[in-house]
Amino acid sequence: MISDAQLRAQLPHTLRQLDLPSLGSLYRGKVRDNYSRGDQIVMVTSDRVSAFDHVLGTIPFKGEVLSRLTTFWFEKVKDIAPTHILSVPDPSVMVVKRASAFPVEIVIRGYITGSLWRDYQSGKAGAYGIDWPVGLKKDQRFDRPIITPSTKAEYGKHDEPISEAEILKQKLVTPELWREACDVAQRLFARGQEWAASRGLILVDTKYEMGLAGGKLVVIDEIHTPDSSRYWLAREYLQRFMAGQEQQMLDKENIRQWLIKEHGFSGHGKPPALTDDVRVMLAKKYIEVFELLTGETFVSSGGDVQARIEQNLKKAGLL
Ligand SMILES: Nc1ncnc2c1ncn2[C@@H]1O[C@H](COP(=O)(O)OP(=O)(O)OP(=O)(O)O)[C@@H](O)[C@H]1O
Ligand SMILES: [Mg+2]
Repeated sequence: MISDAQLRAQLPHTLRQLDLPSLGSLYRGKVRDNYSRGDQIVMVTSDRVSAFDHVLGTIPFKGEVLSRLTTFWFEKVKDIAPTHILSVPDPSVMVVKRASAFPVEIVIRGYITGSLWRDYQSGKAGAYGIDWPVGLKKDQRFDRPIITPSTKAEYGKHDEPISEAEILKQKLVTPELWREACDVAQRLFARGQEWAASRGLILVDTKYEMGLAGGKLVVIDEIHTPDSSRYWLAREYLQRFMAGQEQQMLDKENIRQWLIKEHGFSGHGKPPALTDDVRVMLAKKYIEVFELLTGETFVSSGGDVQARIEQNLKKAGLL
């Protein structure tokens, strides 16, 4: 595991954004800077971290960890469905096929936790159009994974739960494509859970984005990363569940917990500034889950991320 000193040394070099207008037209999401030209997107994963739909700051090596994990996972699932990936010119950059993205996110859950648990408890989980069993306990495993779709809100707005019936009624996705998307999601999730289990982890839930490219369904964006998924330590699951304790979380939930517990912040008002200590703590979580999933020690060149990306893009003939 990378040392605290190395993580601290990286703090001033994190990638907040990449301004390279010659790459194409820019769409800046909360985490990614997407440069589109024709049917290709140069997708740069920055080191930005967001929670409760606010960008809070940067975390050393985060962009690289997410991008490398996405590449890792896409390789593992490529027999299930085509993915948007075309090439990887830099550890933080993917060149992808541009798709017309479905206006819904396909969230799939193996356990009841997080926002679904809160909605279930307060009787608001009906928005998904699912007949929930009664008497579920927090963090309980479902008999089989359940899809709880959400709308893909425009920038600055919150994603909202939506039911399958509503998706079809509003014609957000055709019935055939929706069926295919759900089937692909179930198979991707099963593969993800299987691999995570072999590495001592539970893939608790995740979010897929899909779209159409060349008339075919493709899996886009990121996949099974600690930003888009929850991961728990498997060996502690049962004992903690029985004792009603929080699970050992190795994902973005750590920052949500820090915001709530240390600052009483859960999305309203001005978010607190991240301290260097918390940035280092979070970097360690991202790297830990990378190492557990891949079985590799995380090694990075470190230093000026922007300079490295520019150099690699030039080498690949993209700049
Ligand atoms: N192959 C693709 N074709 C078209 N759009 C894509 C593709 N892959 C990912 N995207 C879009 O690129 C954006 C990725 O940026 P990022 O992850 O930072 O966004 P976000 O913060 O999750 O969402 P938002 O777009 O609401 O800011 C998302 O809007 C995603 O839907
Ligand atoms: Mg995203």
